[in-house]
Amino acid sequence: MSPLPQDKNGCPYLQLAPMEGVGDRSFRKAMASIGGFDEAVRDFLRVPTNAHVRSLAKVYVASELSPIPLAAQIMGSDPHSMANMAVELVKKGALRIDVNCGCPSNTVTGNGAGSSLLKDPNILHTVAKAVVEAVSIPVTVKMRSGYEDISLFEENVLAAEATGVSYITLHPRTKVDGYGPPARWDLIARAKSLLKIPLVGNGDILTVKDALTMLETTKCDGLMIGRGSIINPFLFQEIRAHYAGIPYEPKWEDLLGFLETFIRDTPESFSTRLRLNKLKQLLGFMFRANPELLQKRQSVLSSSYTDPEAFLAFALPLLKENWRSYLTV
Ligand SMILES: Cc1cc2nc3c(=O)[nH]c(=O)nc-3n(C[C@H](O)[C@H](O)[C@H](O)COP(=O)(O)O)c2cc1C
Repeated sequence: MSPLPQDKNGCPYLQLAPMEGVGDRSFRKAMASIGGFDEAVRDFLRVPTNAHVRSLAKVYVASELSPIPLAAQIMGSDPHSMANMAVELVKKGALRIDVNCGCPSNTVTGNGAGSSLLKDPNILHTVAKAVVEAVSIPVTVKMRSGYEDISLFEENVLAAEATGVSYITLHPRTKVDGYGPPARWDLIARAKSLLKIPLVGNGDILTVKDALTMLETTKCDGLMIGRGSIINPFLFQEIRAHYAGIPYEPKWEDLLGFLETFIRDTPESFSTRLRLNKLKQLLGFMFRANPELLQKRQSVLSSSYTDPEAFLAFALPLLKENWRSYLTV
C-alpha cells in the first residue's frame, strides 16, 4: 500500500501536525474525539548524545489515539543515539518514525539538531540514514526550507530522499523565518517536482479552500495541519466532507465536547494555574478564527480569572456569539 493512501472519495492523506507545548496529549485526544485525520505525529522527543533511550521513550504511547495511529518524532544530531531511540520506539509499537529537521528553537539548534541539520545536507543524510537503517518501519523526514536561507533547499530535499525515507513533510519556511512570513508553497511545488517519493505539504492551511489550493498548486500527496486545527478543530472533517460531497455542519455542542475531552485529559498533576494557562492558550487560537472573535481575543487572554471554570464561564459565551462565522473563514 502507498504510504499516503487517499480515502474512498479521493481525499488525500491528512495528518495532525506535531506541536510541542500546544498540541499535547490532551489536545490530540480532543482532536481525535472529532476525528477526520488519518494520523497524528507526536511532538518531538529530544535525543541527546548517549541518550538513555529507554527512559526517554517512556512518554511515547503508540496506542494513545487508537485506532488513529500516532507517529513518533525524534530530534537529535547524533546518528548512533537517534538509531538507538528509533529501535526503542519500535519496541513501544511505533508504526512510523519521523526525523525532525525543522525545529527552530535555539536551545535545539545550538546542539546541532532540528533545523541545524539543514546547514549541511551531508549531516542531514547521515542522521536520517542511521535511523532508516536501524528499523524496518517507515522513517520520514519533516523539514523546513532551510536554515538562514534556501540556498541548500534542493540539496537537502534530495539528501533526505537518498536516505531511503518513505516520504518527506515540508514546512516551507526557513529557521530564521520562525513562524512569521507566509509559508512558501511554491517551494512545496519545487520539492514535488524533484522527488520520486511522496511529499506532504504543510504550512498555513486554515480553511478547506487553503487545503484545496495547496494540493492543486503544489501537487503534493498529503496534507499536514497544525495551527489551523487549533483555530478550527473541525477543519479535517470539513476537508473530508468536501471530498465526500456531503455537508458537514458541526454544532456548538460538538465544540463543547471537544473542550470537555481536552479538560478531562489534562493531566491530574497539573496545578489550577497550569490548567488555566492551557485553556487560555487553546482559546487564544480559537479566538483567531474570524475578525469578530479576534476583536475579543485580547480581553479573553488578559482576563484575570484564576479558576478555569470561571474563565470558561466568561470566555465561552463570547466564543459562541461569533461561532456561526467560524466555518466561513
Ligand atoms: C507551538 C508549536 C510547536 C511545534 N512543535 C513542533 C514539533 O514538536 N515538531 C515539529 O516537527 N514541528 C513542530 N511545529 C511545527 C508544526 O508542526 C508545523 O510544521 C508548523 O506549525 C506549520 O504548520 P501550520 O501552519 O499548519 O501550523 C510546531 C509548531 C508550533 C506552532
